[in-house]
Amino acid sequence: MVPSKANKDFLIAEAYAKVNLHLEVLGIRDDGYHELGMVMQSINLSDQLKMIKSEDNNITLKSNSSEISNGEDNLIIKAANLLRKNVGNTQLGVHIELKKNIPIGAGLAGGSADAAATLVGLNKLWKLNLEMVELEKLSKEIGSDIPFCISGGRQICFGRGEILEKLNFDQFDLGLVLVKDPSIQVSTPVAYRKYKEQYGHTYLEADKDFEMKRNILRLKNWSDKSLFDNRREIQNDLQKTVCPMAPEVEKSLKVLSGLPGSRLVSMSGSGPSCFALFKNYDDANNVLKEHVKDFERAGLSAWACSMKSNGVQLGNEFT
Ligand code: C5P
Repeated sequence: MVPSKANKDFLIAEAYAKVNLHLEVLGIRDDGYHELGMVMQSINLSDQLKMIKSEDNNITLKSNSSEISNGEDNLIIKAANLLRKNVGNTQLGVHIELKKNIPIGAGLAGGSADAAATLVGLNKLWKLNLEMVELEKLSKEIGSDIPFCISGGRQICFGRGEILEKLNFDQFDLGLVLVKDPSIQVSTPVAYRKYKEQYGHTYLEADKDFEMKRNILRLKNWSDKSLFDNRREIQNDLQKTVCPMAPEVEKSLKVLSGLPGSRLVSMSGSGPSCFALFKNYDDANNVLKEHVKDFERAGLSAWACSMKSNGVQLGNEFT
């Protein structure tokens, strides 16, 4: 539904997807969520949200995707409602148009990125002047990955994923080829539930053990050079559980491993999307172009991406 009275105030927010350069399940928390140790990385695959200030008090959403709901269960609407409630002004209105490019149910945090973009965008559009750290704090109420998607780049993420320690690098040169079988989605809650059934007996319990694992992650070198040259495996614990559930993951990893110049190969998040790292974007893009037929034959959608040093970006152009 288009708002009755939209004025000319609008902005565009770019919502970037992420991949996991590391995902380790440490244990289970009192709130039922898993205690994680992750390294997340923003990539230049993005959704675009156009936010048009509306003079009525409605929050409405329209999108180019038939796979997602435009209602109260969409994280975009949840984020807008949360922000409005938090500042105590339920009169604020907006109409949001979403151009969805990030595949859904893929382990790329597409929904979380959209919610992050909504918070950052509406903070500006509604002239709320909340600090980014306040938005991050607020956002974790509706999703564990949203705080990361707000500030993005490459960060170590602890807790449910919402406790962030930014890794500062000047260079984000690595490229990646990302693939996803369009015929399947993986439910994140199901992946975690099954992981717990299979590996719950290995979970750590003592705070000192959690902290030891966190320190191991902090001490590792997460620079591009180290990731590319050292040939250490990317750890994604959920891969062990999701692979047998979704044979498409095994297929994706096999295709990616066979690409010339590909280094580390892994599933992202709770899957089923998988990626291979390349020395830079051009290498990834050339390999993608040369192997289009292989991806088609395997029934995989494929993208060449670069890494981003930031999260949500505001602009004016809707491309
Ligand atoms: O926080 P978010 O809504 O993105 O999480 C989706 C689901 O994934 C949770 O309901 C939970 O089942 C699972 N999850 C978890 N531990 C985490 C993050 C997510 O068990 N740290």
